[in-house]
Amino acid sequence: MVNRSTLTIAPDDRYRGNDSSSLPAIDVRPLRIGPLVVDPPILQAPMAGFTNYAYRQVVREYGGVGLQATEMVNARGFVWMESQKAEHPDRLWGVRDEARPLAVQIWDNDPETMAKVGRRLVEEFNVSVVDINFGCPVKQVTERAHSGSYLLKDPPRMHAIISRLVEACHPTPVTAKIRLGCTRKNINACEIARVVEEAGAAALTVHGRTAEEYFRGHADWDRIAEIKSHLKSIPLIGNGDLDSPQKVVHAFAAYGVDGVMIARAALGRPWLFAQAAAALRGEPIPPEPTLEEQKECMMRHFELVVERFGEEKGVQLMRKYACCYAQGKHGARHFRSHVARVSTRQEFFDVVAQYFPTEPDLAGSPQC
Ligand SMILES: Cc1cc2nc3c(=O)[nH]c(=O)nc-3n(C[C@H](O)[C@H](O)[C@H](O)COP(=O)(O)O)c2cc1C
Repeated sequence: MVNRSTLTIAPDDRYRGNDSSSLPAIDVRPLRIGPLVVDPPILQAPMAGFTNYAYRQVVREYGGVGLQATEMVNARGFVWMESQKAEHPDRLWGVRDEARPLAVQIWDNDPETMAKVGRRLVEEFNVSVVDINFGCPVKQVTERAHSGSYLLKDPPRMHAIISRLVEACHPTPVTAKIRLGCTRKNINACEIARVVEEAGAAALTVHGRTAEEYFRGHADWDRIAEIKSHLKSIPLIGNGDLDSPQKVVHAFAAYGVDGVMIARAALGRPWLFAQAAAALRGEPIPPEPTLEEQKECMMRHFELVVERFGEEKGVQLMRKYACCYAQGKHGARHFRSHVARVSTRQEFFDVVAQYFPTEPDLAGSPQC
């Protein structure tokens, strides 16, 4: 068991507040994932349907993120599309050419298929990291494909997948992303962490919920912290409910993680990474952009999406992002109800001009 006194390093009230002044600097080092140095040690989470090239680009422009990730890509689907000589899935949009470092996340339960796709991603796409999804709780992935979080019940298979992939991708690092376990009664993240490390993974990311919890309740950071002592040398990246620079600093200070990963809170706030990075350095936290600047950011995002997908599909895709940008602001509900119905570029522009919130955030942080 972990020695609690080593964990509660500085649960200082200053880390919990919401003021925009600087926080006391803490000793946070760059994260090492195999040969890759991730600095700052703040990662952008993979999110299916969201973290495509356009989103990654917008995040990159604000800075503050040490490693970005694609949406999860199904390895079997990748192989099938190649056999059909079809285009690569939209989920690999931009991957060949965009800035590094970049992780591509893949999922499946067959070690050979995973190894084949991992090798291709390394050789042809030149990715910085191949990440494996062992956390997805969605039935299509778990019950139908016996993959994602389903594999937390089968450590030997996890070992086989990781070790085969590590061999195929060498020297590019392979990482694993897990949840605490399948159910609250079967939390086995510490055992899984040992398997992940023994199999040769270069880092472990843990979302502090079980699969059955989906996104309910709170991420259990005490459980994340416990895992640290079960890892010999690879870094632990904590994930779950980080929605402010203060919480990011607190995660490092109080839970002893080597890195943090942010998902939902940054969907409509791509500047959150830059704020968190400044906080970690003990520098003044950049203020929230004005609502006008936030709207401009959303429009830039819109143009990137429409450029790739065309007007019809692009507008359809942008509806959900637009809701994220408005989330937590006065009038967000009204905006959402209108933007949900737009289907052309002009309609999108009109609704944004008329209904995008013009008053500051309500109390609390937005969550999509
Ligand atoms: C819409 C959505 C899609 C997600 N897709 C993925 C995915 O493709 N791969 C993955 O490992 N996790 C995925 N996740 C989980 C997130 O990466 C993250 O672990 C989770 O949201 C908890 O972090 P947060 O509290 O910062 O949001 C997804 C989450 C959401 C909300």
